[in-house]
Amino acid sequence: MSIKPWFPTLIYTSPLRGRGNAPFARTLLEDCHKLRDNDAAGRRWSERNYPGGYTSYGSRTDLHKTFSTFMDLERAIRTHVGRFARRLEMDLQHGKLQMTDCWVNIMGRHTVHALHLHPLAVISGTYYVATPPGCSKIRFEDPRLDRFMGAPPKRPDCRPENRQQVSYDVDAGQVILFESWLRHEVAPNTSRGERVSISFNYNWV
Ligand code: NI
Repeated sequence: MSIKPWFPTLIYTSPLRGRGNAPFARTLLEDCHKLRDNDAAGRRWSERNYPGGYTSYGSRTDLHKTFSTFMDLERAIRTHVGRFARRLEMDLQHGKLQMTDCWVNIMGRHTVHALHLHPLAVISGTYYVATPPGCSKIRFEDPRLDRFMGAPPKRPDCRPENRQQVSYDVDAGQVILFESWLRHEVAPNTSRGERVSISFNYNWV
């Protein structure tokens, strides 16, 4: 008998950098706050679409082209994206993966990020800037969930690769990467402090 797992879904996590990241992380957090202070259009957009929080998703997604700290962040993330793409054995031919969008998310108490994916991108991910105790995890679901139709549920003690969803604790200084078609969500934030993250897309250009 032979049973093999095919078509795996890979999720990559790593510290952004080794030791010595703290000063950079502090500057980045300050810049996220400055951005919120200066981005009236984004605050208005967030009032309608991101209650209790601020995101520049509706107003500023070019941060990696505009601010030096975000340019540094992109250079650090690029290394991880390269590693992940090699592990996925992507054949980029004469092209490369390039960051096309980069935006800030500041989740207040009860702010939620509903289930979504990132259309038209190849690899997406998030860098965590501030993760107060008890802040929401990121949850991914099996991309085939709408195809199971009449299938019974999985046993509660099933092997990890047979689970239909997985949640990751989030930690400041960490980066998480996934293929952009993978649906994910962030449950309502229950921490007292703000959960701050920077999300991004890489496209094949
Ligand atoms: Ni997302």
